[in-house]
Amino acid sequence: MKQSLRRLLTEDLPQNYGANPNVVRDTDKYVEEYVHGFVDKWDELIDWDERAKSEGDFFIEELRRRDVKRVLDVAAGTGFHSIRLIEAGFDVVSVDGSPNMLAKAFENGRRRGHVLRTRHADWRWLNRDVMGRFDAVICLGNSFTHLFNERDRRKALAEYYSALVHDGVLILDQRNYDAILDKGFKGKHKHYYCGEQVTAEPEYFDEGLCRFCYSFPDGSRYHLNMFPLRKNYTRRLLSEVGFQRIDTFGDFKETYHEDDPDFFIHVAEKRYDSVDPQANSPGDLTK
Ligand SMILES: C[S@@+](CC[C@H](N)C(=O)[O-])C[C@H]1O[C@@H](n2cnc3c(N)ncnc32)[C@H](O)[C@@H]1O
Repeated sequence: MKQSLRRLLTEDLPQNYGANPNVVRDTDKYVEEYVHGFVDKWDELIDWDERAKSEGDFFIEELRRRDVKRVLDVAAGTGFHSIRLIEAGFDVVSVDGSPNMLAKAFENGRRRGHVLRTRHADWRWLNRDVMGRFDAVICLGNSFTHLFNERDRRKALAEYYSALVHDGVLILDQRNYDAILDKGFKGKHKHYYCGEQVTAEPEYFDEGLCRFCYSFPDGSRYHLNMFPLRKNYTRRLLSEVGFQRIDTFGDFKETYHEDDPDFFIHVAEKRYDSVDPQANSPGDLTK
């Protein structure tokens, strides 16, 4: 095992963004951002029971409607969705590029009586490291925002596309960065980050960076530097990579006012129909 990976897995390292954190805009940074201390706190941040309540069966129903059996959870994190889907009867493989997150997911699974099938992989090399085809790929919890350049985003989406069977579905969510960039942050965070005592707020944002600060009741604070994806930009990338039909929900609802949702959830289908299924739909993929 490489020395740097061993340190990351065993030592309680602090996060380190150097003298000017707002210039750190690097796709590879996520591995170091998820230090032990932050990963240990992650489940406080997302309070599993509250999160399950606010999501309801949205993902389970979207997957069942498409007769999905095999799911690749590419951003397993601490295992919340992998475990929910296993318990709902799906066959799940759990991927993450952070060894600390994967170890935590495995531990959380074991505590609930499951042995998670974990794979350590970065999305950009997903199909090199994970074998097989899946009926669904899920990338949830505002994870895709960790990619800082378009080349990485296109490559990751192409890898998800390739990991799917011919009529598979990708479900990918993101924060409503349009509202943050255009209107400022309103701080509702009710759907994903549900821990009562925890705050998750952007400390700085511009068109190329959204730096979030997570504060915990014991006084500890952690950060994540993320790329603020605009909704229609993500939809366009999904379409350009080959997804044929893309439906975007706002906080799990089909109709919403653009500024209201905290999160957008894109449900992107690979199934090819020679007649364009969205040819007459008003969804603008060009912005
Ligand atoms: C914000 S967390 C969300 C975790 C989980 N899905 C949830 O909802 O709680 C983002 C996750 O994506 C993973 N990640 C970010 N960039 C990645 C990449 N390029 N390849 C693989 N995993 C990545 C991180 O390690 C982290 O576990």
